[in-house]
Amino acid sequence: MKSVSVSAPGKFVVLGEHAVVYGKPAIALAMDMRFSMRAHPSNEFRINGAPANQYNMSPHMKYLSEMHGNRPMTVFIDGRVPSGSGLGSSAALSAAYAAAVRALNHLPTDKASLAKDAFEAEYAAQGRGSPMDTSASVQGGGIALNVPYKKEDFLWHIDKGDRSWDISKIDVPKMTFVIGNTGIRAPTGPLVEKVRKYKDTNTFARSIVDEIGDVTLEGLKAIESNDKVKLGELMTYGHKLLSILGVSCPQLNKLVKASQPYSYGAKLTGSGGGGCMIALTDKPEKVAEAITLHGGTPYIVNTGVPGVTVKV
Ligand code: PMV
Repeated sequence: MKSVSVSAPGKFVVLGEHAVVYGKPAIALAMDMRFSMRAHPSNEFRINGAPANQYNMSPHMKYLSEMHGNRPMTVFIDGRVPSGSGLGSSAALSAAYAAAVRALNHLPTDKASLAKDAFEAEYAAQGRGSPMDTSASVQGGGIALNVPYKKEDFLWHIDKGDRSWDISKIDVPKMTFVIGNTGIRAPTGPLVEKVRKYKDTNTFARSIVDEIGDVTLEGLKAIESNDKVKLGELMTYGHKLLSILGVSCPQLNKLVKASQPYSYGAKLTGSGGGGCMIALTDKPEKVAEAITLHGGTPYIVNTGVPGVTVKV
């Protein structure tokens, strides 16, 4: 094979982050910020014109190459998903790179195989996480984890140790979300670890994790019935629950509060500690303005976008 072009989107979490790590339900939507990659076999690993090293080749990419024979390739990466912001940047990179490595090694590039490879790479790089981000990026559109689903909506099953996830696709009616980036970079691993410690030593924290799961199931019903008012309420409540778990921060709270007058609801999205929040709204420009006024960077995002694409 001469070369392959692949791409994969970032995502945001509507409800269920952190609790999904423990097998609770979650809902995530792919969005229109993505990585594109062109790759071809070569004599040494090169990324964007430079020899691969620990700065330009992420541990995820290294893991995926090693997983499938470690054959050197030249890769050009384009596009952008802001990193350390809760938008699934490393998952999108892993999903796209998994597709490139598989295609160049003449291996199947079906979505279930890509989702599993990308999850293993994330897991190796970041430790105890869920397959939510990687599955959302591979599949595109909307996905849910560990919710009741119709047979035809089932996508794949992933397990790790004593935890397991059934991933299914969901139909999401047209809804407008605005993302607000605090600009504070907060890597996922330490935040997941913080919640794990809290949950392992505190019954109240365990009850909050359970409640996030229940709120997510209610949220799915609100999506299915296109009830934006209800979904917004649940999102705002979800933010409170995540704050109790200790993963919000003053700047996230500020952007959530600033968005509320123009939104059905708002919450942090992803691992928190910084990174981004989302607001569900019919007044995206107003929300974007409020986010800017309070020191954040707004993105009015489109959902319903394709997952991984592979062109050989
Ligand atoms: O911040 P992100 O984009 O890496 O999202 C992390 C979501 C968590 O639920 C906190 C962790 C996970 O692996 O599911």
